[in-house]
Order: sequence, then structure tokens, then C-alpha cells
Amino acid sequence: MNYRSIEILTIACLAVSLFACKGPKSYKENPDFKVEKAEFGMTKEGEPVQIFTIENPNGVKVKLTTYGAMLTELHVPDRNGGFTDIVLGFDDLESYLAGHPYFGVIAGRVANRIAKGKFSLNGKDYTLATNNAPNHLHGGENGLDKKVWKAEELIGSNAVGIRFAYSSPDGEEGYPGKLDIVVTYTLTEDNSLVIEYEAVTDQATPINLTNHAYFNLAGEGSGTILNQQMQIFADHFTPVDDTLIPTGEIGPVKGTSMDFTQPMTIGSRIGKMVGDPGGYDHNYVLNKKQPGQSSLAVRVKDPSSGRVMEIYTTEPGVQFYTGNFLDGTLEGKAGNAYQKNDGFCLECQHFPDSINQPNFPSVVLNPGEKYTQTTIHKFTAE
Ligand code: GLA
Repeated sequence: MNYRSIEILTIACLAVSLFACKGPKSYKENPDFKVEKAEFGMTKEGEPVQIFTIENPNGVKVKLTTYGAMLTELHVPDRNGGFTDIVLGFDDLESYLAGHPYFGVIAGRVANRIAKGKFSLNGKDYTLATNNAPNHLHGGENGLDKKVWKAEELIGSNAVGIRFAYSSPDGEEGYPGKLDIVVTYTLTEDNSLVIEYEAVTDQATPINLTNHAYFNLAGEGSGTILNQQMQIFADHFTPVDDTLIPTGEIGPVKGTSMDFTQPMTIGSRIGKMVGDPGGYDHNYVLNKKQPGQSSLAVRVKDPSSGRVMEIYTTEPGVQFYTGNFLDGTLEGKAGNAYQKNDGFCLECQHFPDSINQPNFPSVVLNPGEKYTQTTIHKFTAE
């Protein structure tokens, strides 16, 4: 089967699955899909936080918490049916509250960087936190990753999910407009984790939402991802300055260490990605026939376990980040000290600094419009 037919099949399956997953239904009607809710602790402000476990009939298990609408665990099978948790993170809420590099969170209001934390919209200048000096990163000091979201369980005959909602007040973190956001994670019977985003605003505002999971297909805490084979369906990328802000060019990957149009191990040329701390932290311009159309963006394979992850997205770009800032100081799950390159992120999104880059697709949401994005992570083993 070629990629195109897999893509059509996946989208067809998704449509069927999600159709069956509209609105909460009783768990008893759907015993093969499971959802469990537990208390996860309290924020420093005393807000209770819940954690949900959802599971499909194949034993794929996902944990999601209301803190940051975060994906904290993802257990998928290898070629022999052995399950492992393939996302980096912690076992307890306290460790997340103590600060971390966006493990599994929903990043926003504007994920990625805004140059110098400044932009103008409809004749007005806005200044945001420069929390990644000299730039603004992932929505600021107290972004969506640090909010407690409302949660609703969704159980259908073909899927199980959690729908998170958060209403960001006008002016929060310096962004204009009240922004109402809904993010739904759905686990389907074909081992896909679907993340759908929706938002509406009452004033024009920039928006760029993504999930920031760190993956290691051999299992979190199992060492580096450098032997895993990456294929990114992008002929172009957005070259950046030394503060990781795009220059505005759309550069070809051909002939550079950025070229993953054919499967290559992540480590094959990573040493050539110079700078401090080095490695990949770049936005790829996905090959698309139509803007906004879901297409296969990435295929990653771990040769040791046989696990394969395919990502389909409606977004124009994907930030490929190789965990360059991990330095062994964070004690993750079961005390695993995460080192540089122990996980990779594939953040499906609009291009960095789009609000200041007239040549990039717009990230402005106006009143009366609906922001949507859908990203599918499909797991198989070979
Ligand atoms: C994104 C950025 C990286 C880094 C991580 C979080 O991937 O592009 O530079 O900030 O988030 O550590």
C-alpha cells in the first residue's frame, strides 16, 4: 500500500471513528474502550488536577491530565506485542509544577517563537514576555501549558477521548481578545491518537497551538533517539538566525543536513547541525497540495522495536526538535535522567514568528472565524 492510500484510509477511519464518538455515552455500552479518572494532586494555588487513562481494545493506553492538557503517557506495542511508554515526562504532578521543558503540553496561545516578544495587529503594538531571551516562546511565562483545563470524557463505539476546554481572558500573557479553546484527544481502534483543536475569539489575535510531546519509540528512558529513522515530507524549511527566528526565506532541504525526504537516522548528520546546543530545532515546510489539507507529514521508525509513528496534519509546518536542551538534570519517570537527544518533538504548527513575517501563512484569528487544526499520530509495528 502506498502512502497516499494509507493517508486516505486513515482519514476515512478517522471520520468513521469520530462520528461514533460524538458526545458522552455510557461506558457500559462500550466495554472495549476504557476511561478512568483519578486525582493527580493540586497546583500551588490549590486547584485540583485530574488525570485520565484511556485505553482501546488493543491495549494502547494514553494518560492525559487537566494540567496543561498534557499527554503524560502513551503505551504502544512493538513488533512482538510488547508495550512501552514512548513519551518523556514525570510520574507525579509536583515534578511538572517544579518546571519542565514543555513535556507533552498544549503550547500556546502562540507556540514557538515571536521575535523580541513584539508584534503589531490592526495598528496596535503588543509586547509579550521574552521568556526565551531575546524572544517570546510557547505563549510566555504562564501559557496554556500551566493552566488547569476543564475535561469531559467521550466514549463511543469506535473511540475514546478526553475533551479539554480553557477560556483565556482578554490580555492574558499580553495577547488581545478572550480566546475560547477546545482540544480533544481521541484514541481510535486503529491505534491512532488524534488531537483536534478549535478556538474562537472576540478580538483579532494570533494563535498557533501544538502538542509538545517528546517521543522515544524505543521507550522513554531507553537512551538516545539517534538511531531512529526519520522521514519528513518536506522539501523546504525556514532558515533561522542564531536566536532561532526565521530569516523569512523558504530554503530547500536538498543538499543540506536538514534533508529527511528519504528515511535517515536522526543521528546521521546531527553533528553537522552546529551552534549552541546544536541538533535539530527547525521548522519544516510540509509538502501540501492544498493549504489546510491533512497530509502525511512524518514517518518515524525505531529499528530495534519495529515501532512506527506516522503523523498526519492539517498544519503547514512541523518543528523538529531533538531534545537539545535536555542535560541530565531532570529526573523523569522512574528516576530516568533525561540526557541530550533522549527524545524528539514533532510540533505540528504554523511557522515560527509568523505574526511578524508577511510571507508566511497567517496566524491571525478574527471574531466570527473558527481556528481548527487536526493532527493524527498513527502507531504500527513492522
Ligand atoms: C521548542 C523549541 C525549542 C525548545 C523547546 C523547549 O521545541 O523550538 O527551542 O525551546 O521547545 O525546550
